[in-house]
Amino acid sequence: STGKYADPLRYLQPQHESNNITPHIASLVGRELYLDASHPLGIIRSKIQDYFASLEKTTGTAYDIFDAEDPIVTSQQCFDDLLIPEDHPGRLPSDTYYLTDSRLLRTHTSAHQSQHLRSGSEAFLCCGDVYRRDEIDSTHYPAFHQMEGVKLMTQQSVSGADGLSGDDWLRSPECKMIESDLKATLEGLMDHLFGETEKKWSEDYFPFTQPSFELEIYHNDEWMEVLGCGVIHERVLELSNRPDRRGWAFGLGLERLAMILFDIPDIRLFWTDDERFHSQFKEGEIVTFKAYSKYPPVYKDIAFWISGDEANSFIENDFFDLVRSTAGDLVEKIELVDSFTHPKTGRSSRCYRIHYRSMDRSLTNEEIDVLQFQLRDACPSLGCELR
Ligand code: PHE
Repeated sequence: STGKYADPLRYLQPQHESNNITPHIASLVGRELYLDASHPLGIIRSKIQDYFASLEKTTGTAYDIFDAEDPIVTSQQCFDDLLIPEDHPGRLPSDTYYLTDSRLLRTHTSAHQSQHLRSGSEAFLCCGDVYRRDEIDSTHYPAFHQMEGVKLMTQQSVSGADGLSGDDWLRSPECKMIESDLKATLEGLMDHLFGETEKKWSEDYFPFTQPSFELEIYHNDEWMEVLGCGVIHERVLELSNRPDRRGWAFGLGLERLAMILFDIPDIRLFWTDDERFHSQFKEGEIVTFKAYSKYPPVYKDIAFWISGDEANSFIENDFFDLVRSTAGDLVEKIELVDSFTHPKTGRSSRCYRIHYRSMDRSLTNEEIDVLQFQLRDACPSLGCELR
């Protein structure tokens, strides 16, 4: 870890009772992979920024660049400013990494929208690492990267909608104009990144944009969601002291785009130190990733009871984080292989198969047994009784 926010102790302290950040997560914060010009995430970030820079000639819009914001934000920034309701599941400690009750690792780069609007920016791009508690497999990792884009329209071009709100605003030509500008801009971005590619728009919902959309890209016989976007909710603009303006916002996942663009099959590869990965990429170049041989996996099963009240309070993400705190990036996948409730006692049991694999070397059964025993020792802390 080298970046200015790389300091595990900053995330593990203060030991507030709400702090649910694990050492593994703390070790990921501040890596700044997206600022490394020869890392696939850095290459794609530059390519996106180049596209938006090129728009200045044709549209006159200059985008401010923010890409070194502190990943620790307040719940005000991450949720309240964006009209995300108090009871939204995204706020739960089972989904989000908290330092204290009101400070957390940002779950999306939208957490920076309001501050940049408030400080008077007319258009900006904001890139950074974001954190969400989640399962782990080849396309999910609890840390990933987003690029946020915001554009306000000139005051003059939206003055016809002054004072409009709700349905009146949604039906106005100004709102339609912003939607078209947003979609054209993002379709242009996709063509810039992929050449002509199959795209699909669908309606979506975000509390802070209305209307809202998602864009999917066709890749390897699958539709892949790459971004969410919409017309900025008038209330967000009011709260940011820009009540006389209207505009659009989008947030896209850099890993998703990079996996498509470079044909990278596993999201964990972005975090590897393996030279066989890094030697394949150069600043400004889009190449097809050549998979190198994988080292063999080691599988271990763990089974436990989650009885009575515990069955209700057992949070799968807590177990996933426990596994990762024990074995870090050696965990390739955690698979639920069995789940049943005993007909007589009513106790519930889970069996998970943990796939261990190193990106860099062959694992020995002995070293994995050590980790597996540490994990077994730690299971009672989640209220689980080993079987
Ligand atoms: N922040 C949203 C997400 O992470 C994406 C988004 C950004 C949607 C901006 C609308 C506008 O899913």
